[in-house]
Amino acid sequence: MLHEKLKPFPNDFLWGAASAAYQVEGAWDTDGKGKSNWDEFVRIPGKTFKGTNGDVAVDHYHRYKEDIALMAEMGMKTYRFSVAWTRIFPEGKGEINQKGIDFYNRLIDELVKHDIEPILTIYHWDLPQALQDEYGGWESRQIVEDFKNYSITLFKEFGDRVKYWVSLNEQNIFTRLGYQTGMHPPGVKDDKLYYQVNHHANLANAIAIKEFRNYIPDGKIGPSFAYSPAYAATSKPADILAAENAEELTNHWWMDVYAWGVYPKASWDYLERRGIAPEVNVGDFELLKEGKPDFMGVNYYQTTTYEENPLDGATLEGHFNTTGKKGTMEDTGIPGLYKTVMNENLERTNWDWNIDPQGLRIGLRRITNRYGLPILISENGLGEHDKVEDGSTINDDYRIEYIRTHIKAIQESITDGVEMIGYCVWSFTDLLSWLNGFQKRYGFVYVNQHEEGVHDLRRMRKKSFYWYKEVIESNGKRI
Ligand code: BG6
Repeated sequence: MLHEKLKPFPNDFLWGAASAAYQVEGAWDTDGKGKSNWDEFVRIPGKTFKGTNGDVAVDHYHRYKEDIALMAEMGMKTYRFSVAWTRIFPEGKGEINQKGIDFYNRLIDELVKHDIEPILTIYHWDLPQALQDEYGGWESRQIVEDFKNYSITLFKEFGDRVKYWVSLNEQNIFTRLGYQTGMHPPGVKDDKLYYQVNHHANLANAIAIKEFRNYIPDGKIGPSFAYSPAYAATSKPADILAAENAEELTNHWWMDVYAWGVYPKASWDYLERRGIAPEVNVGDFELLKEGKPDFMGVNYYQTTTYEENPLDGATLEGHFNTTGKKGTMEDTGIPGLYKTVMNENLERTNWDWNIDPQGLRIGLRRITNRYGLPILISENGLGEHDKVEDGSTINDDYRIEYIRTHIKAIQESITDGVEMIGYCVWSFTDLLSWLNGFQKRYGFVYVNQHEEGVHDLRRMRKKSFYWYKEVIESNGKRI
């Protein structure tokens, strides 16, 4: 659909940026914080790019005032951050660590002081190691009760000032990388467990949302889903079916549960036939249905293209590009369902991620048509190598172009009738990329932090910083 004139962004549109505790805070063992699964995992040789870890990250824990001052200078309307579970409950449950609560109170107060709407993510992947040790973390149903208590604690402590909440960040990614590819903690490869872990995470998500209504009735909550809309490689019906299979098993498998409390039929039957469908208890589906979100949080980076994969086709494990050397990403697939192929119509980043703003519009419309929920774009952005010239200049025109074209796609979607709450760019400052170290940069603000050696963590505004400031000031008119 081509539009002659685009609708303006709503006046209360939340222009912002996002981060996650482990990737920015540092201070990994400060003020009573307990150990997370990531604090342990990064210490295993060979797991992260050049052995990088979040011990210091970009030291947001100590520099949050400076960072928020920069957000205010930019005119940011919202900042999405996550709480480290281990700061609140060092052992995952039991005694509250007051110093952890105090830190987030200071952070939230500082945001509110600058009229920046806080969006709080309850869980962005840093699980208390104590829970992993005690009962396998997400592998056990016990996590549901502990996650519920942790969530309620946050609702009670911060609900007076925080009205927008994200329950789980990218459940589809932390479970896939944790239990299918083994690239994230706990580094397991077990398909059956993967679906079981997901079922527990679904229950935890639902119970947190259900409880939220009791504590913050005037607030809004939803999960953030890593949505990669599926394309068919060709118009061959077998390829179209492969893309349908992928859309169902890699996207609807989560979003249907969030929105409706049910698993999609064909995928469920497929998993049952393979003996890997999750075990479900009496009452689970009732709970899932009670956890309906107020919005769908969407983390969008790229689309994925699929073609048919016969029953005796390849089981592709696929190598992930974590070095920034273009062309090192490999395809993946499931025999009888689909396999991924490179989309020759799209440009790619140095990490082999497709650049596809129109895919965002397609995805937003699919969600709107299927679920009818408002959408918060909780992440979107470009990870690239940045170069500092003359000591403090960073000309990241490629990032501006990426974000500009995605903002245009959002405006087109709004014109199509999509209800949008806001747009959080990943990320505000540069931060630690879980597997790619510090060299893969996303921020509007450069942080002098690298893989090797000691650095001063100095903040420097990139060209995109000044550009996004204009975008916000003009409410999206000057992109
Ligand atoms: C999302 C995560 O998957 O993508 C972020 O929510 C992450 O935590 C971001 O950093 C970018 O991924 P990467 O691998 O480029 O750091």
